Amino acid sequence: MNKFSRIKTDTIRSVDEITGSRRLRRMRKAPWSRRLVQENHLRVDDLIWPIFLVEGEDRKEPVEAMPGVFRYSVDLAVREAERAAKLGIPAIATFPNIGLGKRDATGSAILDPDNLINQASRSIKAAVPEIGIITDVALDPFTNHGHDGILRDGIIVNDETVAQVAEAAVLQAAAGADIIAPSEMMDGRIGAIRDALDANGFQDVAIMSYATKFASAFYGPYREAIGTGGLLKGDKKTYYVDPANTDEAVREAEQDLLEGADMLMVKPGLPYLDIIHRLKDEFSIPTFAYQVSGEYSMIKAAAANGWLDGEKAMLETLLAFKRAGCDGILTYFAPEVAQLLRD
Ligand code: PBG
Repeated sequence: MNKFSRIKTDTIRSVDEITGSRRLRRMRKAPWSRRLVQENHLRVDDLIWPIFLVEGEDRKEPVEAMPGVFRYSVDLAVREAERAAKLGIPAIATFPNIGLGKRDATGSAILDPDNLINQASRSIKAAVPEIGIITDVALDPFTNHGHDGILRDGIIVNDETVAQVAEAAVLQAAAGADIIAPSEMMDGRIGAIRDALDANGFQDVAIMSYATKFASAFYGPYREAIGTGGLLKGDKKTYYVDPANTDEAVREAEQDLLEGADMLMVKPGLPYLDIIHRLKDEFSIPTFAYQVSGEYSMIKAAAANGWLDGEKAMLETLLAFKRAGCDGILTYFAPEVAQLLRD
């Protein structure tokens, strides 16, 4: 009993009695012992770098809401791909910002063999054959309404969209994409894309399904990056998964695997670690997270304000993905973290 209070302490057992002499701090006492028992590691091999493309030449435009992120014209994107390959980053994922005049109600420009995505794949494949190229077949960069599918009478029509994205996937494969990553969440898209790729001689092109893409607020800055922010009317709730649902996410993933997906992705990342963990547990399939634009911007904004250590927060979030069961992470931090891991 101390002199300030009448709280009884004399019956508290000794710590050794309480823990049975187990001391979990023992292994934490020094950097060398912490290194010995570290269970998960972040490696450059875990990184996929999403990059934004813009038309023209010698253009590098900052994305305002994503400090340190730019849109590159194809010539500069090739140089960025070279830089990424030198850093040891295994793959990049490209997202185009095309001229507004080329966007229409059906996103028809996705079927142009020479559209911005396909031009970039061709140039990058020719100059940097050692880096993997991942392309998305969603229609949102190509529609004048910012939706991922064909919009008719206020409805995103499923089957017509699927037919179009399957065709687009073949064009992307022909241009050099190694992995098709469909993000538009239409029913039946994985099977249709697999059929189309196989029928056109692209059996070796893999599919990374955005199996569980949630209807999330964290995509905001991306929409600035590809110029759909001002276009999008309404929301994407009729095709993306409700953030409240877990079982539905499992059903989505299971369906995509049945249809032929080689890899799964969960998006966004950090708010959905439970989904990553559950999918990896349930399916034992290569599983990826997309640490999306809003997640990147939050860390950058807080760091810019001096509210947290941006570098430490970045590394901690990426390690958290590994701990949850990810085989890799799509992250705008990729070059920054690859450089750090090298040094
Ligand atoms: C849409 C798409 C989105 C992202 C990539 N492709 C989401 C959306 O705009 O609805 C988001 C990526 C990010 O936020 O970093 N097919």
